[in-house]
Amino acid sequence: KSYEYIQTTEPRPGVGQITLNRPKALNALSTPLIDELNHALQAFDSSPSISAILLTGSQKAFAAGADIKEMSTLTFSEAYTNSFIESWSLLTTTIKKPIIAAVSGHALGGGCELALMCDILYCTENANFGQPEIKLGTIPGAGGSQRLTKAIGKARAMELILTGKNFTGKEAGEWGVAARTFASWEELIEGALKTAETIAGYSRVAVMAGKEVVNKSQDLGVRDGVEYERRVFHSLFGSEDQKIGMKAFAEKKKAEWVHK
Ligand code: HXC
Repeated sequence: KSYEYIQTTEPRPGVGQITLNRPKALNALSTPLIDELNHALQAFDSSPSISAILLTGSQKAFAAGADIKEMSTLTFSEAYTNSFIESWSLLTTTIKKPIIAAVSGHALGGGCELALMCDILYCTENANFGQPEIKLGTIPGAGGSQRLTKAIGKARAMELILTGKNFTGKEAGEWGVAARTFASWEELIEGALKTAETIAGYSRVAVMAGKEVVNKSQDLGVRDGVEYERRVFHSLFGSEDQKIGMKAFAEKKKAEWVHK
């Protein structure tokens, strides 16, 4: 399928890359763009040749937010009856394969929230994160007040969301929003691809289960979460890959996964 606002490639074995590509608007996340993103995510999620997904933008902008021009005239009843922004949740509710965000340049408003929805966030040290919605007379609407607060704590999140002050990629790394930071765009993309390729080299069922249980920790208390983890752990004894992985260890061989 050809897209207007994104590009899709398969740059490494098992890795599907989605590049937000609406340069004239710094990748502002309009509804048509999100529809294409969702289509591409679902296509990779159901593709037998893909195990990990990389989501990136340009060097200048991961995404400068939801499309302000699209939102400016929206009424309450239109937003409410059409569940405006709800379709953004597909990434967190439906997609089972891990998604790595590689963020360079602006990741503002909905762009910051989109990055926070991904499973692993990498960025350049000078990436420009923020939730500037307050300056537009509104608030984060795609999970920012919840995910950013979980990630960096109430004190910093409240300050950022109420002042609209931005934070750097370096700070994102220090505060635990980003798993790793990189000095340049080239290193960022290479680092993200390497990680995606590493993940894609493991048993797909184990990777998907790992993503599922870590994400559960965001919604459950520790006791329920540990129980949930144990159930999923038990279920993996039903996979062929668990047998293959442990047998290969015992025989000092490389595991050849069947993904079953
Ligand atoms: C629509 C946008 C946009 C956006 C940039 N553009 N951000 N269009 N929605 N979020 C457009 C500009 O209008 C401009 O188009 C072109 O992209 C280039 O932007 P400039 O402002 O000229 O670039 P620059 O001077 O380099 O400044 C970059 C910037 C600035 C600092 C990122 O564009 C900016 O502040 N953008 C808005 C950031 C923001 O407030 N994001 C939160 C949105 S609210 P033209 O046609 O003039 O060339 C939000 C709500 C989330 O995300 C809640 C639900 C998800």
